[in-house]
Amino acid sequence: MAKVTVQFTCTECGTTSGRWLGRCPGCAAFGTLVEELHGSDAATSARALAPIALRDVSADEAERIETGISELDRVLGGGLVPASLVLVGGEPGVGKSTLLLSALGAIARSGRRALLVTGEESVAQVSLRATRLGGAESVEILAETELDVVCATLEEARPDVCVIDSVQTLHASALGSAPGSVGQVREAAGRLLRVAKEACVATILVGHVTKDGAVAGPRVLEHLVDCVLQFEGDRYREHRVLRATKNRFGSTNELGVFEMTAGGLVGVPDPSELFGSTHPGEIGAAVSCALEGTRPILLEIQALVSPTDLAMPRRVGTGVDPRRLAMIVAVLGRHAGVALASSDVFVNVAGGVKIEEPGADLAVALAIASAARGTPVRDGVAAFGEVGLTGRLRPAAQAERRLDECAKMRIATVLAPAGTATRGGLRVAGAETLREAISAGLEAPAARKAVA
Ligand SMILES: Nc1ncnc2c1ncn2[C@@H]1O[C@H](COP(=O)(O)OP(=O)(O)OP(=O)(O)O)[C@@H](O)[C@H]1O
Ligand SMILES: [Mg+2]
Repeated sequence: MAKVTVQFTCTECGTTSGRWLGRCPGCAAFGTLVEELHGSDAATSARALAPIALRDVSADEAERIETGISELDRVLGGGLVPASLVLVGGEPGVGKSTLLLSALGAIARSGRRALLVTGEESVAQVSLRATRLGGAESVEILAETELDVVCATLEEARPDVCVIDSVQTLHASALGSAPGSVGQVREAAGRLLRVAKEACVATILVGHVTKDGAVAGPRVLEHLVDCVLQFEGDRYREHRVLRATKNRFGSTNELGVFEMTAGGLVGVPDPSELFGSTHPGEIGAAVSCALEGTRPILLEIQALVSPTDLAMPRRVGTGVDPRRLAMIVAVLGRHAGVALASSDVFVNVAGGVKIEEPGADLAVALAIASAARGTPVRDGVAAFGEVGLTGRLRPAAQAERRLDECAKMRIATVLAPAGTATRGGLRVAGAETLREAISAGLEAPAARKAVA
């Protein structure tokens, strides 16, 4: 049998050492040496293989394993690919174990073998959750943290789907470091990847996230797996958002929305209905038609503008990129006549959703302008479009999809960059510049005074 040795490798420059050092002798970086296992079977003579042409490969499009949770299937790109490795990251208590246990339950009910390897919770705790969720009786469970045992069990049992909750609890005894350390997590993920491919087990790894939201452990984990799903949302609110940040078998940035209930996580098939409604006449609220992957979604954006004595007024955004927010505030001041130099600006996106695409700029600008002028956005108006630094509006990607969603949600008028073609009987108000869009989107002050 090949002799296995332990080596310490620098994650920055790759220098190896026989013992741990605080400072890498190669690149002088501190704390970058991690423990790794090396099999010394290099002496076995390698046999040359004949490469084959791609046309000779018989790859029958593998049938995807449906998880029984349509929102999860959508994010995965139509279900789990057999023998793939998926990493699910999320903050503590966001509902990772709940979601995956429901998925395993549905997979087991469809006649496939589903195994849950739990290192964090006892069998009794998982069984309590299973009773609460219901329908997970035929899921097999293994409470184990020893990596060798887990891999051997997977090879022997060959379930169709296996969930490891969590990868940070697995422990390879040949490594001296503690479970959850970089070396251990890397080793566990690497070994599980091999087992997943060899034994054809679709494996889902649960990963903890660090304080700044990245999956804990080395970035190499994200390179290793086929798919990285991020489970987001405020622990204190009932809505959770699942998105793919990497997917080798489907589109990234797909979005699944869930609601946490006593019976587990329930998919929200129509999030626009939930997040995209404003109260007519409310000052500082606008509806944006943002795109999440291939999915258009209506989101309410709220803004508050309040006078401040601070030398550097605050621009605080929840769910929007702070740099984009600062840019929109600057363009509003410079090109649209909305002076915000002596005001704090707060922006919030409904439902804990994060918008990352520039198509939501116009709605953010509209909400801020509404709050600054004390005039509400016209009733039944949704907006999308990118705001340029010159104050001109730029077309947003996939306008047709957004317009279809607006038509579905019974929006009367859509405010969009000039040149956007109408669809489905919608009234599209095209605007060349941000200034034009604001005067078209906000109620006329005179009309408001007359009402008052
Ligand atoms: N009876 C219940 N009714 C409603 N919600 C519940 C109930 N029990 C648990 N929850 C919700 O489930 C969440 C915990 O879910 P879960 O254990 O799946 O999270 P997790 O992401 O796996 O956490 P961890 O990282 O600690 O393992 C709680 O934060 C709570 O919101
Ligand atoms: Mg858990």
